[in-house]
Amino acid sequence: MRKTARRNSEMLKAILLVALSSYSTAFYLPGVAPSSYTVDQIVPLHVNALTPAIAQRDDQLHGIVSFDYYHHAFRFCRPEAGPEWVRESLGSIIFGDRIRTSPFELHMARNETCKALCDTQKFDARSAKFVNRKIWQGYNINWLVDGLPAAQLLQDPLTQELFRIPGFPLGQFDKNGQTILNNHWEILIDIHKAGITGKQYRVVGILVQPESYRDSKVLGDGKAQCGDSSQPLILNEDGETPVTWTYSVYWRLSDTAWATRWDEYLHVHDPKIHWFSLINSSIFVVLLVGMVSMVLLRALRKDIERYNRLDSYNLDDLTGTSAVVEDGVQEDSGWKLVHGDVFRSARYPLLLSVLLGNGAQLFIMTGLTLVFALLGFLSPSNRGFLATVILLLYTIFGFVGGYVSSRAYKTFGGERWKLNIILTPVLVPVIVFTIFFFLNLWVWGKGSSGAVPLTTMIAIVAIWFIISVPLSAGGSWLAFKQPAFSTPTKVNQIPRQIPPCARSLRLLPSLLMTGVLPFGAIFVELYFIMSSLWTGKIYYMFGFLFICYALMIITTACTTVLLVYFLLCAEDYRWHWRAFLGAGMTGVYVFIMALGFWMMRVSFGGLTGAVLYVGYSALIGFLIFVLTGSIGYLASYAFVQRIYGSIKVD
Ligand SMILES: *[C@@H]1O[C@H](CO)[C@@H](O)[C@H](O)[C@H]1NC(C)=O
Repeated sequence: MRKTARRNSEMLKAILLVALSSYSTAFYLPGVAPSSYTVDQIVPLHVNALTPAIAQRDDQLHGIVSFDYYHHAFRFCRPEAGPEWVRESLGSIIFGDRIRTSPFELHMARNETCKALCDTQKFDARSAKFVNRKIWQGYNINWLVDGLPAAQLLQDPLTQELFRIPGFPLGQFDKNGQTILNNHWEILIDIHKAGITGKQYRVVGILVQPESYRDSKVLGDGKAQCGDSSQPLILNEDGETPVTWTYSVYWRLSDTAWATRWDEYLHVHDPKIHWFSLINSSIFVVLLVGMVSMVLLRALRKDIERYNRLDSYNLDDLTGTSAVVEDGVQEDSGWKLVHGDVFRSARYPLLLSVLLGNGAQLFIMTGLTLVFALLGFLSPSNRGFLATVILLLYTIFGFVGGYVSSRAYKTFGGERWKLNIILTPVLVPVIVFTIFFFLNLWVWGKGSSGAVPLTTMIAIVAIWFIISVPLSAGGSWLAFKQPAFSTPTKVNQIPRQIPPCARSLRLLPSLLMTGVLPFGAIFVELYFIMSSLWTGKIYYMFGFLFICYALMIITTACTTVLLVYFLLCAEDYRWHWRAFLGAGMTGVYVFIMALGFWMMRVSFGGLTGAVLYVGYSALIGFLIFVLTGSIGYLASYAFVQRIYGSIKVD
């Protein structure tokens, strides 16, 4: 009893910690068990794809695709029996992990210096050119020891704190800007005593310091003679260069417990900026909500009171109180006038309902993913778990998508039922998948390992087809059996004329204005997500992200409701698409921001980088468009229902 109570309070404390502080803590699921090794036992080292990183010389990202560790041009040593694949989750594969075995022999707690990995390799001119270019672009090598990424130690320029980031450079530059290949690795592994006997150790940290030695030699029997760093190794682009790959390994006892070994990787560079942006957006949202409720509620209450008073006076007219009649004629203007049209069906009801369904699906998926992340279920020790969870949740919530889409379509009075049921699970996924597929073809054509294998593609399509489509159809069927939402006012036979001034009323500016506020709420977090997405850093500020998501929902709802209110006051009743597009503008802003990020932090040489970058940014922008558009529309729908429900119409 007491134990569980304590664990509960621990859990609560931990959640609060993540939610309230920027110093996030990693949690562990029972499934992720620590592995212990006895002295001299081999600790496997796995290799992952080489990834581009922000180059230190100019603080820019130069590459975008990743390359397989065993790409022939790198000439890295292979295990004798050939490298084997290490099992990975679907999400991990989609996000570019290509984990394989390696010929490294790390004996637990046994320091060894200058070991040879394999016989001396020969770089020809072509490989030398390729590798030199990768060094120039700032590519990183990625290794995993016991599930922990091999890191380099960096210093935070602001706080002078030391922190680790996964990956270490393939090469370096000398004073003349000549590229140097790192062919020796100093591997420092931190270990922690485990168990009562103290004979077992757990891996709690790995640092790699790469070095470059021109004159290393293989001595045989796994030994080598290492050169010294005053004679670095430069790959000759006109001829052959012999390269000997060597490594040393040192084991250090550490106080870090296994449970906290990820903490140093989750370093927050500048927590102040997150706090600043969060407080900023919160104040902003509070002001906005205050303004909306003040203006709107007051105006509305007055409107509603007046409309209803006029109504009762009009009844009194029969008994001959004449003074009010003229009042009634004059004052009966504003949003009440369009009561006979406001529930007129939207144009393209099929498309709108399909988008709404998908938006609802994305909305729930994102919310639940963030809750999971907040509770610590998506700890970075589970590689690719986040992507897998997103995929799974999206698939399962096909049900919600189908339901919302059909319900909306029925309310719009749509009649092409079958088309609605088919398009709901098909339209958005097909757009996303098509873009993804073509981008993937492009990556594949470049010989990068980042391309998602065909089997994984087929698996995704199969999951979507076997699970998501039937679930969506089930949701549609359920909604179909329920009545359409009733509207508080009847729709007139003949559409009302829209006043000419309202017709031109700020179409584009109003849309742009609506989207910019929700975008402001998520801007800073988005920037951090983008930089970690493109540079392979670990993003772990889910507490902030969760709050930002909530702020974004509130701002989207508020601004869209305001937009719709102004529109109706101008006697323009075509609010459906305006609400959706206005709220969806946030996605367009996200896309524009991605382009801005490109100008600031990214400089790709070739077309490939540009195509991939723009393609993926457009994809993300599109999904955010559907998501925020739906949030805005549904909020507006509730608003319109509410205000027309509270006036009396004869
Ligand atoms: C191994 O090397 C590390 C780092 O230099 C040192 O702290 C440790 O004592 C060494 N261990 C042994 C068994 O020599």
